[in-house]
Amino acid sequence: MQSRDLAIVEVHAGELSPAESAQVETIFFEASGRTFAPGPERAVFRERWLGRFLRGGTDVVLLAVEGTETVAGYLVGALEDPTQQPRFADISYFARDFRDLCRRYPAHLHINLAPAFRNRSVGVQLIEAFAARASDAGAPGMHVVTGKQARNISFYKRCGFSQVGATVWSGSDIVFLGRSLPASA
Ligand SMILES: CC(C)(COP(=O)(O)OP(=O)(O)OC[C@H]1O[C@@H](n2cnc3c(N)ncnc32)[C@H](O)[C@@H]1OP(=O)(O)O)[C@@H](O)C(=O)NCCC(=O)NCCS
Repeated sequence: MQSRDLAIVEVHAGELSPAESAQVETIFFEASGRTFAPGPERAVFRERWLGRFLRGGTDVVLLAVEGTETVAGYLVGALEDPTQQPRFADISYFARDFRDLCRRYPAHLHINLAPAFRNRSVGVQLIEAFAARASDAGAPGMHVVTGKQARNISFYKRCGFSQVGATVWSGSDIVFLGRSLPASA
């Protein structure tokens, strides 16, 4: 299936409509593959991997939008080194295992597509839009952290990332995938 009429749009703090927010939230939880019992765990999970990026500042929110109102997927990212930001202290692998790599590849991102929009090359458009933003902001590189066995690794490699680090975090094998960025003009 070809993606027709699909646009990548950057959304600034406070500009996500309620309908867009709801779709992003649905995509986020579907992609997590987790179900949560009632309680604070769900909110902590959402805050860690999504919520903190939606408050503006220098963070980037990109939506892939089909037509005028269908959110196909999103990318959220931070442009500066996470080891230098107390808000990321809850993700211990940054400072514990990847401090030097974070200096080299400081921008980082989280990307998820709705199931119906996967395998249609939508993801690469979001990645390239973030790469341009990060490069314009002066970041020398960007990274993602994912599971060592994750299916998405082949996608990231096609997008120009290489595995430059690995560790065990919360009992799972994870990898640090970095991509250098050109200096902006
Ligand atoms: C990973 C993802 C952003 C890639 O975007 P995409 O537009 O589907 O990617 P492309 O069409 O260019 O390439 C397809 C690749 O996406 C990845 N992919 C597709 N479906 C996937 C799924 N359900 N779970 C994980 N990765 C998937 C695979 O790497 C696939 O390549 P392969 O067929 O060689 O295995 C998107 O598939 C997705 O949101 N997957 C589920 C959630 C996820 O893994 N998010 C990243 C968390 S680190």
